[in-house]
Amino acid sequence: MGIQLPGQYPLWQYPESNTFMTSQDSRFIKACRKEQTDCTPVWFMRQAGRYMKAYRAIRKKYSLIDMFKNPDLVAEITLQPVKEFSIDAAIIFADILLPLEGMGIGIEFPQAGGPVIHNPVRKTADVESLRIVDPVADLDYVLEGLRLVRSEIDGKIPLIGFAGAPFTLASYAIEGGSSSNYLITKNFMYRNPDAWDLLMKKLSRAILAFLKAQVEAGAQVVQIFDSWVGCLSPEDYGHYVFPHMKKILNELRRENIPSINFGTGTAGLLPLLAESGGDIVGVDWRISLDQAWNFIRTGAGIQGNLDPVALMAPPDFFKQKAAEILDKAAGRPGHIFNLGHGILPSTPEDSVKALADYIHEYSATLNSQKST
Ligand code: CP3
Repeated sequence: MGIQLPGQYPLWQYPESNTFMTSQDSRFIKACRKEQTDCTPVWFMRQAGRYMKAYRAIRKKYSLIDMFKNPDLVAEITLQPVKEFSIDAAIIFADILLPLEGMGIGIEFPQAGGPVIHNPVRKTADVESLRIVDPVADLDYVLEGLRLVRSEIDGKIPLIGFAGAPFTLASYAIEGGSSSNYLITKNFMYRNPDAWDLLMKKLSRAILAFLKAQVEAGAQVVQIFDSWVGCLSPEDYGHYVFPHMKKILNELRRENIPSINFGTGTAGLLPLLAESGGDIVGVDWRISLDQAWNFIRTGAGIQGNLDPVALMAPPDFFKQKAAEILDKAAGRPGHIFNLGHGILPSTPEDSVKALADYIHEYSATLNSQKST
């Protein structure tokens, strides 16, 4: 029997019968609702970025901050991977650090190296003086970008909005940039528990307002990036982070906004992290998918979990790795294929294309075996 292989068509040539009537029928949104899909949906964190030739061509002409703040460029860059690969969701081109600016924290993206914050939060008074972002006034360029993208892809593929989680944002705000051991962050957390609590509350309010504004502007699912939370012990996660995540994710659920709760290095935190909420929990590659599924007791689905470095190897290798992940998912509804973290800049574009096609192809075969 001929199975319709969605991976065979670039999106813009999708046969009429293959476009979704509404985004609610898309396999990505269905997976967020833990419904059966024709094949496993796939997208990639950092799918718009330096590994793409089309991105580098724009990047040559503009600074990163100018790109983030120009809604036409935001829309163009967001759509670059969508036009190139058979992926099941678009994610708005923005950065988790942008909301910090409106709170009074100056961020800079230097030409080389990670982002830098010149006035890091180090004292209680620094936390007290932080403003709460008004997403419409402060982050209008992200919202306008979402409106432009949504009008372009509506009925084709869904659009993901996102924000950093309070812990991961706090780690940048306190350290002043990236960190390897989160020494200043943890010290602040342990020594100033009240100021920490206030910081988490202020960040949570900003994040929630921003995510709701993104949904009003056209985002259909939101992902919360708690990329660095895996540096915490389960006890510290439970005490210093869990209540804030739970509040944000509960509120999203109350508003019927599907959410993905993503972190890395979270194998030891998974039961708690899942309990904090999220329709889907994102996992990296340091845990096997079936084991992760056993740790998650909330009925949430899972997004992940291929090592991004696998994409540097020949196609036969990463296809084998992807097949192992799909075999472990074993057709459970609610699996969204992704890498365990963002695509690395040196990844060959052809490999990303081959992987997306393969995910659709192989998972459709598994599904058809199941139904016969
Ligand atoms: O996924 C996507 O395609 C959407 C775009 C996106 C960016 N940043 C664009 C970006 C997303 C979802 C992010 C999230 C983000 N930003 C996170 C959480 C996810 C993760 O990777 O853990 C974090 C920690 C940041 C902070 C940040 N921004 C860092 C550490 C860096 C420098 C490191 C790097 O990869 O260059 C950035 C810059 C940044 N944000 C780039 C992009 C495409 C690099 C752009 C460039 O130099 O051209």
